[in-house]
Order: sequence, then C-alpha cells, then structure tokens
Amino acid sequence: MIKIVLIGAGLIGRERLKALQSLKLAYNSIQLVGIYDPLIEDIKDLSDQYDTSPLFSLDEVFDKKPDWVFIATPHDLILDLVTTSLNNGCKVLVEKPLGRSLKEAKKIMSVKGAMERLWVGFNYRFYRGIYEAVSDIKNNKFGDLVSINFILGHGGNPSMKDSWKLDYDKAGGGCLIDPGIHLLDLCRIISGGNIEVVSGIKWDGFWNKGIEEECHLLLRDNNVIFNIQTSIVRWKSTFVMEVNGTEGYGRVIGRNRSYGNQSYIRGKKWGWMKGGTQQETEEKVVETDGNDVFARELESLLFPKQKLVLAPCSGNEALSNMELFDNCLKAIVK
Ligand SMILES: NC(=O)c1ccc[n+]([C@@H]2O[C@H](COP(=O)([O-])OP(=O)(O)OC[C@H]3O[C@@H](n4cnc5c(N)ncnc54)[C@H](O)[C@@H]3O)[C@@H](O)[C@H]2O)c1
Repeated sequence: MIKIVLIGAGLIGRERLKALQSLKLAYNSIQLVGIYDPLIEDIKDLSDQYDTSPLFSLDEVFDKKPDWVFIATPHDLILDLVTTSLNNGCKVLVEKPLGRSLKEAKKIMSVKGAMERLWVGFNYRFYRGIYEAVSDIKNNKFGDLVSINFILGHGGNPSMKDSWKLDYDKAGGGCLIDPGIHLLDLCRIISGGNIEVVSGIKWDGFWNKGIEEECHLLLRDNNVIFNIQTSIVRWKSTFVMEVNGTEGYGRVIGRNRSYGNQSYIRGKKWGWMKGGTQQETEEKVVETDGNDVFARELESLLFPKQKLVLAPCSGNEALSNMELFDNCLKAIVK
C-alpha cells in the first residue's frame, strides 16, 4: 500500500485529491492517510469526503508514517516543509516552484535525500496537447526548429488583491515565478540544456504590489528562438504554444476550464500545394478538456511504467528551472 498525506488543501491540493480519487479506481494500492491544513474551516468535511483523517499538526502528519507527502502551500513554506518531509524519510511531491528563489532551491537540494526522493509538480508536461507537441519536437517532426512561442495569461479575479500570490514575500515574485516558471520548464526541456536569456521586459501597474504583472522574454538555444509572454493581467485566460520548424508547424491552444479545451494541430510547410487550403491540410492531433492532467502526472509518478518523453520533474530539474528563472530576473528590465 502506498500511504500518502496531503499538506495544503487549497486550489491545487484539492486537484491532487481529485486526481488521487480517480487513480484509486484503477489502482487499489493507494491510501490517503490524512490531510493537514491548519487554515481551512472544512478540513473535517473534506477529510470525510475522501475517507481519510484530518490532521492537526506536523507531528500527526509524520506519525502516519506516509510513504509520500504531497505539498501544495504558499511558496514561503516550501523550504521548511520539504526539508522536514525529506528528513522524515518520505518521498515528496511539492508543487512548483522549488522555493521562492534560486538560493532556496539550492538549500532544498542540499538536504539529504533530495536527489532521490523529491519531485516537483510541473504538471504542464502532462497536458495531452503539450505532451504530444514536445514528443513531435523530440522526434524531429518539424525539421530544424526555428522558434517556439508561448503565451500564458491568467485572467485572475478581484479577490486576488489580498492573495498570497501577489505578495512578494510569500510568493517570491510575480507572473514569472507563477505561472511563468511552467514555460521556463518547457523551454528548458525543448532546448536540451544550453538555453540562454537574451532579453526581457516587464510591466506592472495594475495590482501595484511590487511584483511583475506581465513579462516578455526572448531566450535562445543555438539557433532556436524562444519567445515567452506570461501575464496575470490578461483578463481572458490564455494558453498558446506555437512551434515553427523548417518542415512544418504545430499549435497548442487552450489548457482547460476558463482557458478553453486544449487542442493541438500540426501542419506541413506549404501544405496547400497538395491541394485545398493550408487549414484543410492541417491535422488535429489532440482535443481534450485537459482535466485529467493531475491524474496523468500522479500516475507517472506513483506507477512509472515506461520511459516517457516527459516524465515527472525531479528536484534536480526543478533546480535548473530556478537557475533559468534567476537568469531571466537578471536580464529583465522595466
Ligand atoms: N500547476 C499548476 O497549474 C498550479 C496552479 C496554481 C498553483 N500551483 C501551485 O500550487 C501551490 C499551492 O497553490 P494554490 O493555488 O493551491 O494556493 P491556495 O492558496 O489555494 O492553497 C494553499 C493552501 O495552503 C494552506 N496552508 C497555508 N499555510 C499552511 C501550513 N502552514 N500548513 C499547511 N497548509 C497551509 C492554505 O490554508 C491553503 O489551503 C503553489 O506552489 C502554487 O504555485 C500550481
């Protein structure tokens, strides 16, 4: 039996609970042994709903002797909670990013066991459209890569004003660390390692909380251009990934929910020459509501089956993401 405790039952903690529930239908070797979140009022009802125990201290968490601890809390708690969980001998899945800064990420990775027992939730890898597009890139389906463009914009809502997510001390930054770090992860994977930050520019002025609200970045790896936009002032939730190569192109649009369903289409260079319009020659590879993304990530983590093009993110890879994040911060001007 794989025993799991969840620490932090907010938006994403609850996504993990749903994902675990759906995995339990396929694998009966998972047991959620408790939920710990000292700040929510419905801890008892939530625990009943998932047939588990509400926990009221970290001592109670580790008394349960979990194999895995899932952590989904504000970023300022990550360093301490990951360290304590690793020191208690557990495997850990912590939501991205790996702490608030490169300095914190390095501290985490210096804890005994971090190299072997720590994974970081970079679930964008497991959206079906993104997964297939990155697989196609790795299989040279587009010829030589010319450019990759990303747009990730959160629509947000008025109550965000008081959220920890806009508080520099709790979050470690603005739209670049969250949600932009997902894009840095994907760029780094696509590039294969030698990615360099060319330039960046940021905007703030709506929330006025001392964090960046929109960032545009240019990165490159040898001959490939990476063009990133990340924003928390987009009003319409937006996800776009465009791949442009010497032989063809791909486009992933949407994510799930307010972003719209995710579709991935692929087209060939000058497809129209084979008859019809360019659009008629395109191929729809994926159409999904994207709601299985956390379950797909957890399944790969808990029940690894084969070598995947995109596997769950190790602590070490998450550290590389923080290095790239830090390089972006150095390059960004206002
Ligand atoms: N992958 C994604 O798509 C995605 C999206 C949003 C957030 N995230 C990440 O998930 C994590 C959590 O974000 P969220 O949106 O769920 O935030 P949230 O504010 O909705 O939830 C955080 C939870 O942590 C709890 N908490 C606070 N202090 C705690 C403590 N000391 N011990 C235990 N629990 C505590 C809060 O009560 C709250 O329920 C962050 O790392 C964030 O970057 C990932």
